[in-house]
Amino acid sequence: MATVKINLSESSILGALEERGLILALEAFHKLRGSSKATFLQDLATIDFGVLEQQQRALELPAQTDVSGLTPPDLHPPSLPASASQATAQECAWDAYRSGDIAIATVAGGQASRLGFDGPKGAFPLSPISGASLFQIFAGQIKRLRELAQAEVHWVIQTGPGNDLETKEFFAKRNWFGLGSSSIHFACQGTLPALSPEGQLLLAAPDRLFRNPDGHGGFYRALKSSGALTKLKDHGVSTLYYCQVDNPLALIGDPVFLGQHLLADAQMSAKVVEKVEPSEKVGLLVCRDKRTLCIEYSDMPQDLCSERAPDGGLLFRAGNIAIHAFALDFVQEMAEAQLPLHLAHKQILALHGQDSLTENQGVKFESFVFDALALAERTVVQLATRQDEFSPLKNRSGHDSIVTSRKDLSHRNLQWAANSGRFDDLPGSGPFELESSICLSPTDLETNTAHMALKGRQIVTG
Ligand code: UD1
Repeated sequence: MATVKINLSESSILGALEERGLILALEAFHKLRGSSKATFLQDLATIDFGVLEQQQRALELPAQTDVSGLTPPDLHPPSLPASASQATAQECAWDAYRSGDIAIATVAGGQASRLGFDGPKGAFPLSPISGASLFQIFAGQIKRLRELAQAEVHWVIQTGPGNDLETKEFFAKRNWFGLGSSSIHFACQGTLPALSPEGQLLLAAPDRLFRNPDGHGGFYRALKSSGALTKLKDHGVSTLYYCQVDNPLALIGDPVFLGQHLLADAQMSAKVVEKVEPSEKVGLLVCRDKRTLCIEYSDMPQDLCSERAPDGGLLFRAGNIAIHAFALDFVQEMAEAQLPLHLAHKQILALHGQDSLTENQGVKFESFVFDALALAERTVVQLATRQDEFSPLKNRSGHDSIVTSRKDLSHRNLQWAANSGRFDDLPGSGPFELESSICLSPTDLETNTAHMALKGRQIVTG
C-alpha cells in the first residue's frame, strides 16, 4: 500500500477537523485513551483535507450529470484489418517500442468475489485449456512485445488495498511469469473516507475511519505515490498503454492504437466498440465543446441511449472498453488534478455517532480514470472490433461471465489460427487455446518463425 508521510501535529489535525465542522470525529477522538488515541490520530493524519472538502461540496451538488450539447466522437478505424495508414501507425509504435518508450499499465484493484473466486481478479484462471490466469494471459503478450521490439517493456499493475499483498505474492510464486521482477511495478490505489449524508466522517471502529478504495481514478495518484511514475521516467518511458484486468481479449500494447495516439501527439486516447443495444452496460464516449468525455452508463438518460443516427445504428455508439493510451506527462499532471468524484449512496455499517455498529445511509466516493479525457486537449478515439478485443469478465454466469469470456477468447484464437493457414486439423469450435506469448495478432501468428504445434485443442511452442 502507498506509504503516507505524516508530519501534521495533533493540534493542526484537530484544528482541520474543527474548521470543517467534523464534530463526530472530534468527539470520537476525545473519548479515546492511550494507544487507540494515537492510532486514530495516525489515521486522521492521512486525510487529504483538500479532497475531503471536495467530497463535502459534492454532497451539495445536483445528482444529475450534465448531458447537454453532446455529439458523437470521430472514430479512427480498428487495429486488425490492415491498411496503409495502420501500417504507418504500427511502424511509429514499433520505433517507440524499440527505444523503450512504451510501458503497459493494468488496473487490477478488484477482488473476484462476483465470480465466486477467492483472490484478486487477475489471478482468475480464465484460459479454457491450461487455466492460465488473466495476469498470465497479459504477461505472455508482454513477453512477445519484448521479443519483437528487442527492448524492455515495463509493466505497472495498479492493485487495491484489499489485494495488494496477495497480488504481489501471486506474481512472486510464478517467478513474475519470466518477465523479471525489476520490470514489474506495483502501485496500490488509495482510499477515501466515506461520509454521512450530512458530511460527517464515519467510523469503522472507535479508532478507525470507514474508508473505501478511491476508484480506478486513483490510478494516477497511485503511480505517483508508489514511485512507479519516477521509475518509468528514469527508464525513458514516455507513453503508457492502459487496460482493465477484466478483459482477456485486450490486445496488450496494440501497436496500431499506440501509433495512432503517437502520430496525433495525443495526451490520452481511448478504444471503443460499437454499442448496439441501448441498454448495454458500457460507458459512452461523447464530445462537447471540442473535448472528448466519457459518460457512465448509469448517468446516460435512456432516451439519449436509444437515439438513432441516419444509418440506423445508435447515435451514441462509442462504447467504452476502458483501453487507453497516455502520454506519461499527462499521467503526471492528472496525479495532481482533482478529478470529479462519483457518489454511491449506500447502507454503511459504521459507528454513526453511537457505540455500536449500525447500518445507516452513507456515501462512498470514487474517481474514474476516464474523467481525465475531458482534460486532454488532444485525444484519439479508435473503434475496435468487439469479437477481437472485448469480452469482459464481470459475472459468474449469464452476461459478461466466465462462460462468455472463455468462449469469446476460444473463438477469437481459433479464428486467428485458421486465418494464419499454418495448422491442419483445427477443431471446429469449442474450447481452444493459443498460448498468449505466441502472437499479438493473426499476422504475427503467420510470420512468427518459432516452432509451434497443435496439441489437441491447444497451440503451444517448442
Ligand atoms: C467499467 C467502466 C465502463 C466500461 C466497462 C467495460 C467504470 C466506472 N465503468 O464498468 O465505462 O464500459 O468497465 O468493461 O469503470 N478497479 C480498480 N479499482 C477500483 C475500481 C475498479 O482497480 O477502485 C478495476 C477493477 O479491477 C476492474 C475495473 O477497474 O478491472 C473495472 O471496474 P468495474 O467496477 O468492474 O467497472 P464496470 O462497472 O464493469
